[in-house]
Amino acid sequence: MNNKVLVTYSSRTGWTVGVAEAIGKTLAENGMQADVIPMKEVKDLSTYNAVVAGSAVRNKTWLPEAVQFIRTHQDELKRKPFAAFLVCMTLAMPNGENYRSHISTWLDPVRTLVKPVSVEFFAGGLNISKIESFSDRLMFRVSVMFGVWKEGDHRNWNAIKEWAVQLKLLLSK
Ligand SMILES: Cc1cc2nc3c(=O)[nH]c(=O)nc-3n(C[C@H](O)[C@H](O)[C@H](O)COP(=O)(O)O)c2cc1C
Repeated sequence: MNNKVLVTYSSRTGWTVGVAEAIGKTLAENGMQADVIPMKEVKDLSTYNAVVAGSAVRNKTWLPEAVQFIRTHQDELKRKPFAAFLVCMTLAMPNGENYRSHISTWLDPVRTLVKPVSVEFFAGGLNISKIESFSDRLMFRVSVMFGVWKEGDHRNWNAIKEWAVQLKLLLSK
């Protein structure tokens, strides 16, 4: 039982789902039993030895429901290895890697609640037609026009797998 890991995620337009699934797959390939479940479907963490939680970023922070998930389960999460990741578009900018230390601050609301054993940041993707509000769609269309970033899938599967491989040791403690 001591290698059972929950990989849980919160996503609005779908890009984070694949990141969580890739993390779960890599953990499983490395001998852990990993369940990959959306946060809204998770009721109880007690059967898990460790938890990996991730969210899409909106307006420089995790989705509100993801922060709420950590708040709700903070007592249980403090008792087991907990790792956190975020998925964003800043890392998909041509010079996105320069913003890593700034991006790291977007996880401060999570760190305040529970100290993670590891955090990581991943580029996600942009599908403007899936964005819910007209004003946000307009803002992203303009940002693409000005070359801030490109639409499409920017997920770096090697970076995602590398982090998941490293996690195995940290989550087994
Ligand atoms: C309204 C809105 C706000 C966003 N705010 C940010 C942001 O502050 N920083 C950032 O790097 N990416 C931002 N993004 C980009 C998303 O984080 C990115 O598209 C991510 O891959 C979405 O993941 P999801 O499909 O799992 O929801 C924003 C996207 C939208 C639609």
